[in-house]
Amino acid sequence: MFKVICPDASGEMDKYYRFRWEVLNKPLQLPLGSERDAYDDHSIHRMIRDRQGEPLAVGRLFLSDNKEALIRHVAVCPEQRKLGLGTLLMMALEEAAHDEGVERIVVNARGDAQAFFSSCGFEPAGNPTFDKVKIKVQQMVKELSPEHRFVRQPKLCTQLQQMFNQQIPLSEKMGVRLHQYTGNELTTKLPIAGNGNPHSTMFAGSIYSQAVLSGWGMIWLMLEEHGFAGDIVLAKGEIKHRKAIDQDALAKVKKSQMKGSLLPLIEGKKCKMTVTVQVCHNKEVAAEFKGFYVILPKLQAELDS
Ligand SMILES: CC(C)(COP(=O)(O)OP(=O)(O)OC[C@H]1O[C@@H](n2cnc3c(N)ncnc32)[C@H](O)[C@@H]1OP(=O)(O)O)[C@@H](O)C(=O)NCCC(=O)NCCS
Repeated sequence: MFKVICPDASGEMDKYYRFRWEVLNKPLQLPLGSERDAYDDHSIHRMIRDRQGEPLAVGRLFLSDNKEALIRHVAVCPEQRKLGLGTLLMMALEEAAHDEGVERIVVNARGDAQAFFSSCGFEPAGNPTFDKVKIKVQQMVKELSPEHRFVRQPKLCTQLQQMFNQQIPLSEKMGVRLHQYTGNELTTKLPIAGNGNPHSTMFAGSIYSQAVLSGWGMIWLMLEEHGFAGDIVLAKGEIKHRKAIDQDALAKVKKSQMKGSLLPLIEGKKCKMTVTVQVCHNKEVAAEFKGFYVILPKLQAELDS
């Protein structure tokens, strides 16, 4: 299992730069030190490590203005290529770009890398040029639509976010955002800003609301995916708080942890679903919510109107 990290400790950064030099600069006979530039200190870096903590892939995101970012120095160790590590790294850099409100990412692709960036959704922009070591580079661009971040059902996810904002105005005030939907797991994000209590940790009421919305949202996505129509109502909710949260919270709902069936809706009957939501912080479960939802069939007349 590979892990993407934000290398920030000094030892990690040394390994990061050394790896960048070995993969990208050394083959071009460029000296150690040539791998760094003035933008590094003001950039976002990501690294994938092996079990021993050694780098397998690195990459950098630089915000050139508040709408555009440049991804550079992407490198995967030669022995581990074509295994998806490059894609995993790009996803992490794009996620960071999205979190910064970036709308457009630019890369300068050398040779073979053009096919790799195309597979990540980038498109050529303009004619190729030559860089300072006379290698042909093609500028490529990816527009980050608000939908782009969702691996599965991007349209439904955008619709769900709009429903949260419009139909439950409190959710917009709290800043609950759909973070990711993989088909098996839905994640929502709640910012600490605006949801704090006098102890500078997350207000328990906000955590509860995020959990309720996450469970509700997952059932809504399942209904839509199966073409079912129903009104989702929370009948009972229980929450256990294990740890205080002092940063943004991620709530996760896994389909594998849901109990109940939507099939009675086909016969116009109500159905019940039990949903477990884990609210996490620093990769640890800080609260666990169990929601008992009832899904009421929508009458044909309502659907037609
Ligand atoms: C380019 C690079 C980052 C790709 O990393 P990777 O881990 O091999 O990429 P992935 O496994 O995620 O590949 C995803 C897709 O990209 C494409 N791709 C990757 N490398 C490719 C290559 N050399 N030629 C053609 N297509 C390639 C393929 O479509 C691949 O899909 P597939 O697995 O179905 O064939 C890696 O080859 C590398 O470090 N190259 C040297 C440095 C470099 O060129 N960096 C880019 C900066 S300009």
